[in-house]
Amino acid sequence: MQREKFGSKFGALVVIAGAAVGLGNIWRFPYMVGTNGGAAFIIIYLIFVALICIPCMVAEMSIGRRSSRDAVGAFSVLAPQKPLWKGAGFLYVLIPTLILSYYCVIGGLTIDYFLRSLGICLPQSSAMSVFWMVVFLLITAGVVIGGVQKGIERFSKVMMPLLFLIVIFIAVRAMTLPAREGASATALDGVRFLFKPDFSKVTMKTCLDALGQAFFSLSLGSGVLMTYGSYVRKKDSLFNTASSIAISDLVFALIAGCAIIPAVFALNADPMAVLSNNTDSALVFNILPQVFPMMPLGGILEAFFFFALIIAALTSSVSLFEVPVCCAIEQTKLSRKAACAIVAVVIFLLGLLSALRGTTLNFIDALCANWLMPLGGLLALIFVGWTMKKSDFEDELTNGGMHLAHPRFLKVLRFAICYLAPTGVLAVFLFQLLK
Ligand code: PHE
Repeated sequence: MQREKFGSKFGALVVIAGAAVGLGNIWRFPYMVGTNGGAAFIIIYLIFVALICIPCMVAEMSIGRRSSRDAVGAFSVLAPQKPLWKGAGFLYVLIPTLILSYYCVIGGLTIDYFLRSLGICLPQSSAMSVFWMVVFLLITAGVVIGGVQKGIERFSKVMMPLLFLIVIFIAVRAMTLPAREGASATALDGVRFLFKPDFSKVTMKTCLDALGQAFFSLSLGSGVLMTYGSYVRKKDSLFNTASSIAISDLVFALIAGCAIIPAVFALNADPMAVLSNNTDSALVFNILPQVFPMMPLGGILEAFFFFALIIAALTSSVSLFEVPVCCAIEQTKLSRKAACAIVAVVIFLLGLLSALRGTTLNFIDALCANWLMPLGGLLALIFVGWTMKKSDFEDELTNGGMHLAHPRFLKVLRFAICYLAPTGVLAVFLFQLLK
């Protein structure tokens, strides 16, 4: 069967960056940086990304590209005599399905808030949460039905640059805001709060927070990088793609930080109280709608902001939706349309649990982010490091010998995949257990 690939290097980059950039960047990252020692946290984050996350991204993508199959099929192709690994493949379909079931509820909320910023206020209730979830799910399915190149890639090529532009625009506005009368801090204090290195705040917890944040933000261990990796053309470098995405994800998170934190500082009497109240992403919906009306042209900025949130959430949900769809198409020979319909119904039913009960949403979120995604990442690392043929891995990294890689570079990367990255992920697990 002829399998679709991304049409270009740029296409692959924006699609995978779209999966990475999401709510994790817009609210969670700036807050984590601010409360964990500013630039000190960024330096630790960067070290982890380089030593642990990029090797893990490369490992997951090379499973996908080597096998050229969906997440379940990949393990049957690469380890035909090891049926247990096929079982692991199902995990990479379960994880994105679970994540998507609550991501759609939050995604739906972004649409509701966008319309509110335009003055269209529908009542808020559980039934309406379900309604907005369905709207968000239908848009996601509508993009994925179009296929890899004509649906997902075309959508991301327009949306990702737009998303960057909107967030840069809001960041410039936020950083140049005059302080409100009575406010104890200025916008520049917010920038300082973000970037001033304070090594006294760095503890073991800071390090593990940084690793956990990097894992979630780069969509590691969710099956997404495997499936998207299977669409990367043979001639594109996996290592370069992974590092460019890690850098864009970080740059985006920093710009988002400059869009949010300075505004909170300039416009609130007690910015630290506001920030330390941030327990989950729901606060994007509580705090920011109060901040925007205080700004000149706040209404327009608020609409732009929620539109950016919709895009960020959609490009991530599209990536999550594609994983089970690709699996259904390749495992059962269903058409893409039929696969999308079935996956949408399953997600809808699961999503009802989160839409109707906030506690279920938080439970599934914690289960996926703290346990299932690190487990997925760990298994991918073990598979590539210890089960997949070394020659297959090197072939993927050098594109069948087309790109010459320095032998020492390959050795270092292999060391990271076999030992360093699994140790890092195990540390995250241990930390969760002790917590
Ligand atoms: N990386 C996304 C974010 O930062 C979340 C995500 C996780 C998306 C796993 C896809 C897969 O919000």
